[in-house]
Amino acid sequence: QSERSETELTMEPSEEFLFKHKGFYFHPALVTREYIDSLEDFEIRDSDVFVVTYPKSGTVWTQNILSLIYHEGHRDGTENMEIIDRVPWLEYNIHNMDYVRRPSPRLFASHLPYYLVPRDLKNRRAKVIYVARNPKDVAVSFFHFSNLSVLVETMPDFNIFLERFLAGKVGAGFWLDHITGWSTHRDDFNILFLTYEEMKKDLRGAVLKICKFLGKELNEKELDTVVEKATFDQMKTDPRANYESMKGNFLEPGKGHFLRKGTVGDWKNTMTVAQSERFDNVFKEKMKDLFSTFNWDTN
Ligand code: A3P
Repeated sequence: QSERSETELTMEPSEEFLFKHKGFYFHPALVTREYIDSLEDFEIRDSDVFVVTYPKSGTVWTQNILSLIYHEGHRDGTENMEIIDRVPWLEYNIHNMDYVRRPSPRLFASHLPYYLVPRDLKNRRAKVIYVARNPKDVAVSFFHFSNLSVLVETMPDFNIFLERFLAGKVGAGFWLDHITGWSTHRDDFNILFLTYEEMKKDLRGAVLKICKFLGKELNEKELDTVVEKATFDQMKTDPRANYESMKGNFLEPGKGHFLRKGTVGDWKNTMTVAQSERFDNVFKEKMKDLFSTFNWDTN
């Protein structure tokens, strides 16, 4: 074995936490190569709805909004079901649900890149909601998550995490590839692009946008309930919505909460000027192409 410098070692993700398959990183504790390959033939229904994100971009938030829009029982609290079971992960079937037998409309979440999704999802079948977030906030949120989740390699300091993030050596790979892949292949999908930032700025407007895209009409009272139950403060105190049940299995108790801060621009509290510049060198120029797709103020 050739000698590797310390930098090289810290740059390579541990196989205990990530494996690479078809150019993308997955968690070995949650999925096998065979299962990922099988997803190509996964049968899609026209009524299926997928939330697709790069990690830490507002997935749980959007999962919650979707289930609140679709299920009265989630709105009025009579259906006591965790988010993970309301809108399960396509590629990480943590609770071994029988997706084929789930009644329509099925709601799913996924971090998959556009080229690994079920074949039938293309050709504009089913609906996809892609949520993006300022990558600086994504990186900071991801860093904290790495120290909370037992599934993600613990990162002793932000600098190491940042270098891995910028090299795409984290779960879900290189941020820019994920988002560019989905936005340049938009015509293959029936897809709505949203940003975390616009959801923060105008949650009601974002919920209405989602409803319009889904063809769901809610009355004012229902809409008020969805918006109220999807606020950060509400979700943080709702054990069905804040991944509290994952404590022990996937999240380390006592190391913080899945719903951490829920703000825009938190990166400024973590990144040094030099780290921010380093980030800009990798992303800023290339991100310009994304602004026609995403309603964004990323400063
Ligand atoms: P922070 O770590 O910056 O707080 P994901 O679900 O894709 O993993 O994203 C998690 C991020 O979304 C976390 O960001 C979390 O706090 C934030 N989030 C979850 N629900 C939210 C809500 N209702 N409003 C605002 N942010 C929310």
